[in-house]
Amino acid sequence: MDGNGRWAERRRLPRIAGHRAGVEAARGVVLACAERGVEVLTLFAFSSENWRRPQREVGLLMELFMTSLQEEASRLDEHDVRVRFIGDQTLFPQRLREAIAEAERVTRRNGGLLLIIAANYGGRWDLTQAARALAQRAAGGDLEPEAIDETLLARELCLYGLPEPDLFVRTGGEQRISNFLLWQLAYTELYFAECMWPDFSPAELEDALHAFATRQRRFGRTGDQLEPAEHA
Ligand code: IPE
Ligand code: MG
Repeated sequence: MDGNGRWAERRRLPRIAGHRAGVEAARGVVLACAERGVEVLTLFAFSSENWRRPQREVGLLMELFMTSLQEEASRLDEHDVRVRFIGDQTLFPQRLREAIAEAERVTRRNGGLLLIIAANYGGRWDLTQAARALAQRAAGGDLEPEAIDETLLARELCLYGLPEPDLFVRTGGEQRISNFLLWQLAYTELYFAECMWPDFSPAELEDALHAFATRQRRFGRTGDQLEPAEHA
């Protein structure tokens, strides 16, 4: 979700106003995905590199996470959305960690959209903690290093058990992945929207989905090997 700051600066507003507008955009996209029957939506809310921002902006963002989470939890619950957080929460204020746990608890039985919020997440962090977990098992003697394959490594990653993402959307005109789901994006279709995140409306989401529908996904095969139905 990129471009909140620029959205605000263009309007001569403080950056936090852009982040607030970004929360509104996120609400619209989450509800649109829930209504459309999307199974899993992962929002990159705060990266492990975002701590490098001015302390004041980081503090205001933590406040905003906190209030948004408290305000949105019951709405998400009403829409049958299940919320889950990924990322290293150890550096978050205690109250925020409690709000996260509460939102996860309240929505845990919901069967609609699974909304994953990546907060203090980084793809490299995820892979590193997976490597550490495997190394600990090997050092403890219950795992042979030769037995480590892609399946075993994937089991230690945050999103284990979920389907790999079909579509990645980045707003704000930047064309990079910036340490998002590095392992999981191997075969994901990438879509870059020019608009700033606060302007990413459900109509923009439709555009992204239409673009996705025209892609031919070969997963390493040739086009001729695909079923006719797979040619969009
Ligand atoms: C994304 O918007 C929101 C967060 C990283 C929390 P930015 O804050 O990166 O907005 P720009 O890139 O400065 O416009
Ligand atoms: Mg940015």
